[in-house]
Amino acid sequence: MAPYHVMLVHFPIALWTTAALIILMRAFSDGALARAADGALTFLLFLGAVTGALAFMVGLLVWPIEAVAGSPLARNHLLLAIWSLAYWIVLWLLRWRGGERVWQGTWRWIMLGLAALGVGLQTITGTLGGYLAGNPSIVSEVVRRLGWEVFTTFYLPDWILILLVIAALIMIALGFIGSRARA
Ligand code: HEM
Repeated sequence: MAPYHVMLVHFPIALWTTAALIILMRAFSDGALARAADGALTFLLFLGAVTGALAFMVGLLVWPIEAVAGSPLARNHLLLAIWSLAYWIVLWLLRWRGGERVWQGTWRWIMLGLAALGVGLQTITGTLGGYLAGNPSIVSEVVRRLGWEVFTTFYLPDWILILLVIAALIMIALGFIGSRARA
């Protein structure tokens, strides 16, 4: 399955990178070109989500799950793949449901920040995959200088996980309050 996974991952990576470039252009421009490119954004993000999910599922078939669980590098690749996929799906839903409003006021800078984070996540996911396939890159050196050695299991302290759950619950509650206020 390895060649299929390696072939498939190019689709989400290319689609998400193109989407990030469109977001960059639209964040800084209200011109005709930026608007035309933005017209394709929801569809590109949708295709990215579908091909990303496909690449993810095939990725799970490359090695036996015991081997993935037994290797810190493979575990890290799996973790970052989950984040990248979930993250870009959220961006797709945001652009789809938010429509033109995502380019108004502060929202356009939030979109730009989210796209930058998405590109960062997919870059690290691909870098870790490259190590598994025998294609190392210097991105791991950048991550190392930021304090994370990619050959060791990435972990967060429990209190950060608790904070994340609380933040997620607050955001869901704010969403409900916001939608009721509008209705
Ligand atoms: C959106 C999700 C994913 C992306 C973007 C992604 C990306 C990549 C990339 C770029 C490579 C290296 C290709 C190369 O250098 O030739 C790779 C390899 C690999 N990935 Fe993923 N991956 C994803 C999900 C997964 C998942 C869920 C698993 C399961 C643990 C997985 C397991 C592997 C393995 C085992 C390799 C090495 C394949 C080989 O030996 O040739 N990947 N991945």
